[in-house]
Amino acid sequence: MKLGTLNLKNRYILAPMLNVTTAPYRRFCRKFQKIGLVSVPMLYTKKIEKNPKSIEKDLFKIEDEHPLSIQVIGSNPEALKKTIDILESYKFDVLDLNAGCPSKRAIKAKEGGYLMKNLEKLNLLINIAIKYSSKPISLKIRTGFEKPVNIEELTRIINNSEIEFLIVHARTVLSKFNEGTLDLDTVKSLKDRLSIPVVGNGDIINPISAKHFIDYTNVDAFMIGRESIGNPEIFNYIHEYLVNNKLLSLRNNQETVEKNIKIYENLIDEFLDGISHPLGNYHIKFVELKRNAIWLTKNIKNSKTIRHHLSIAKDLKQLKEILRKYFNS
Ligand SMILES: Cc1cc2nc3c(=O)[nH]c(=O)nc-3n(C[C@H](O)[C@H](O)[C@H](O)COP(=O)(O)O)c2cc1C
Repeated sequence: MKLGTLNLKNRYILAPMLNVTTAPYRRFCRKFQKIGLVSVPMLYTKKIEKNPKSIEKDLFKIEDEHPLSIQVIGSNPEALKKTIDILESYKFDVLDLNAGCPSKRAIKAKEGGYLMKNLEKLNLLINIAIKYSSKPISLKIRTGFEKPVNIEELTRIINNSEIEFLIVHARTVLSKFNEGTLDLDTVKSLKDRLSIPVVGNGDIINPISAKHFIDYTNVDAFMIGRESIGNPEIFNYIHEYLVNNKLLSLRNNQETVEKNIKIYENLIDEFLDGISHPLGNYHIKFVELKRNAIWLTKNIKNSKTIRHHLSIAKDLKQLKEILRKYFNS
């Protein structure tokens, strides 16, 4: 499918998630699932302006990942310009502007989700990105700050810009991740009025919720974040339902978990092979394997005990011993 000038294998997109969608995680999801696009989580333009080298650890070996989006967050036009300039030396496919992050840090810095109540600033940042970046630009927003955004104003800004696609997390900034706050009506209104493709996001947790989101809003593609964590089959299951009308049940068992952890470990090794990661190869392997082993062992027999043991592993040796004890490998 096409999202602007971007050619994707399909319309399923992995959401950017700070401290989750790392390089090995993105590779894992891509290898394992039907997935069209993955994203490097938000990079802070202010931080990059001060210390350009700080992004090296986040962008290690990204030339192997394709298609790939890089997301930036910031409100300072100069810092954005400088960041774009630095990013020009990296190989990636789309630059995504974050106008949705609800964190205290972002709101205090008047960036991310704060931009939903400062559309003038948002417009300025969009124009800078369009002017200075050689890559296609996408925008990730929420449906508003406290209440739904001024749709007329936002659609005017977007339709007058050269943004190639819009990603909407279907809740307001102040709704954070609260249950029962999904606002599909605003997503639908945006989709109806915009001339560019819209990607829907928020609480897609299974084939039924994916179908409901698409049917209700008519979005062109969708993005999944939290449900991908420890659930590497989610996109495939949704695809089976949307395309082949097959509703399979997602069930974790000892065998699938063991297989997935092994795949994850191999991917970490493959990623680290021949490089010296700025954070240290041992550290990366330990943190990645531990975190993902804990995520992957949800919903199996003895899950609570296994995950507790994994969580207290102090080094790779201990972690491997625990995995061998429960999984014979
Ligand atoms: C741990 C975590 C980190 C996140 N980091 C980012 C980020 O860096 N950039 C961003 O645009 N959204 C970020 N998000 C939001 C997700 O991209 C997504 O919009 C949100 O989780 C809703 O989708 P979901 O219901 O499928 O999880 C993050 C979410 C989580 C849970």
